[in-house]
Amino acid sequence: MNIVVLTGAGVSAESGINTFRDSNGLWENHDIMEVASPEGFAKNPELVLDFYNKRRKQLLEVQPNAAHKALAQLEKNHAVTIITQNVDDLHERAGSTNVVHLHGELLKVRSTGNETTVLEWKKDLNLGDCCDENHQLRPHVVWFGEMVPMMDEAMKHVSEADILIIVGTSMQVYPAAGLLQFASENVPIYFVDPNPSISSSERVSVFAEKASTGVPKVISEIENAPYNE
Ligand code: APR
Repeated sequence: MNIVVLTGAGVSAESGINTFRDSNGLWENHDIMEVASPEGFAKNPELVLDFYNKRRKQLLEVQPNAAHKALAQLEKNHAVTIITQNVDDLHERAGSTNVVHLHGELLKVRSTGNETTVLEWKKDLNLGDCCDENHQLRPHVVWFGEMVPMMDEAMKHVSEADILIIVGTSMQVYPAAGLLQFASENVPIYFVDPNPSISSSERVSVFAEKASTGVPKVISEIENAPYNE
């Protein structure tokens, strides 16, 4: 089976990384536009770099949870693509090998002068940290108002899926939220979220619970489903 998994902040919540919309539109006490937009970076680059430095430090202190691990195990029997809106690397650390990061990656930075210069980066990023061509480096994340370069690849994966699993996303942010429309008509959809934005239907099975318990249930349902024989 070709399984495509779409994940959002909720899959990492139990690892200790806060979601966005659960905290009144504030991201770790910051207005999202202040820390996640090109305008915010132009206005106060130090604040933005400091914000991502804190996120990077936090990420290095947390661990993948049972949901990340269960999704990684799926690769034993299936072709699995994870499309995540998260900038953390918890899917990779749990063992998933095919992860598409729609909104970029916290442990990478790129040049503000040449966006194809992307570097691995685990330490703090400061003003004055430059690429070889002397352009300031910035977090390799997709900010509001910026293009989502991985979108075409994500659409292709969704259109080729036999099964779709969605975990821990409010499905409110486009273009990620629009990905579902590219799935073939008969593809079963499993949705795990304690506060689900989609309701159950003939095609959609909703598991209104946390990722750590819901994801293993979805996987056991898939393994025992008639279409898997
Ligand atoms: N398990 C599963 N889901 C959970 C859990 C949990 N333990 N805890 C919370 N959730 C769910 C919430 O119910 C909510 O539906 O996770 C979802 C988080 O939604 P958002 O905070 O909106 O996160 P996400 O959908 O990933 O946001 C998309 O918005 O701000 C931008 O770029 C940012 O990638 C992010 C995008």
